[in-house]
Amino acid sequence: MYASLKSIGSYAPSQILTNADLEKMVDTSDEWIEKRTGIKERRIAASDEATSDLGEKAARIAIERAGIEKEEIDLIICATLSPDHLCMPSTACVIAAKLEIHNVMAFDISAACSGFVYMLSLAKAFIESGAKKNILLIGAEKISSVIDYTDRGTCILFGDGAGAAIISATEDKNLAILDVHASSDGRYGDYLITPGCGSKFPCSQETLDNKLNYIKMRGNDVYKIAVKTLTNDVIDILEKNNLDASAIDHFIPHQANFRIIEAVRAKLDFPIEKTVLTVAKYGNTSAASIPMAINDAYEEGRIQKGDLMLLDTFGGGFTWASALVRFGGK
Ligand code: UT7
Repeated sequence: MYASLKSIGSYAPSQILTNADLEKMVDTSDEWIEKRTGIKERRIAASDEATSDLGEKAARIAIERAGIEKEEIDLIICATLSPDHLCMPSTACVIAAKLEIHNVMAFDISAACSGFVYMLSLAKAFIESGAKKNILLIGAEKISSVIDYTDRGTCILFGDGAGAAIISATEDKNLAILDVHASSDGRYGDYLITPGCGSKFPCSQETLDNKLNYIKMRGNDVYKIAVKTLTNDVIDILEKNNLDASAIDHFIPHQANFRIIEAVRAKLDFPIEKTVLTVAKYGNTSAASIPMAINDAYEEGRIQKGDLMLLDTFGGGFTWASALVRFGGK
């Protein structure tokens, strides 16, 4: 049995935060943001919308497009750095309840922006071992809930959204997830971190006064390591699978910064027409970024059954991951 990405879905909240809006909030400019990041706008969830609400909406689309009954789903995994609740229940369990899928294995993973590709690795292993047949993966973020909107180093970058996929068992190798590489280096943990409100600095008035509940980032250091790591990771997965860049139909990188994507794309010689770009309209939606990008390309009619996608991502931890995935949907 092989694991196949059978469907994709996504949800972007309706409220738009533009660069012009941010000019009124912090010392920045539309020109600086666009030149340094490629971002024009990002979506922000409503105050009564939680991460699970975004994830549920994306999941419903993915389930419908997969043409399966929700009762056929035997595992739900959610990747998020902005869960509904700090400790429990997991956002996967909350989404399962909202979808009315009861008595199912469900759990969250924490791999920051690499979450979706990490989940592909898990889904592949669960299906190839014969343990599961239809797995719902959700990358969902209300990242605005952990952003300090007085910090121009982070607030210009991130946005809210969700993407979901159904991974199903198939006997057809031409529709399979071919390979997934996932790795990490915890020595860089404090380069991209939400320091407070965990067990190290439990939530207190002091933690909140010091804004330790928000994302802190050494942006330029992260940038340099991201470019190097993403490039090496792509070279590695292509070499291990005896493929060159021309075999790839769609290069779908994590949408953190257009300059990072461009550096990797140019180094690997992927044509721009084969590169999926959503960073201008959504910013960095962390674990949701890759499935949202796949969904956009799918809805534009760019992705056809059997097409080979190369996914590549990098995030807090540090974590990084790449995957070679044939699109198994309609
Ligand atoms: O998804 C997880 C992975 N995350 C990432 O991949 C993010 C990686 N980092 C980045 O995307 C970039 O580093 C940033 C977009 C965050 C920053 O761009 P940069 O080109 O690395 O800028 P910088 O931090 O080196 O700062 C350059 C200048 C500084 O001013 P001086 O010292 O040259 O006078 C900053 O103070 O730009 C200034 N600056 C800003 N100016 C206007 C920093 N942020 C802003 C801002 N608006 N928002």
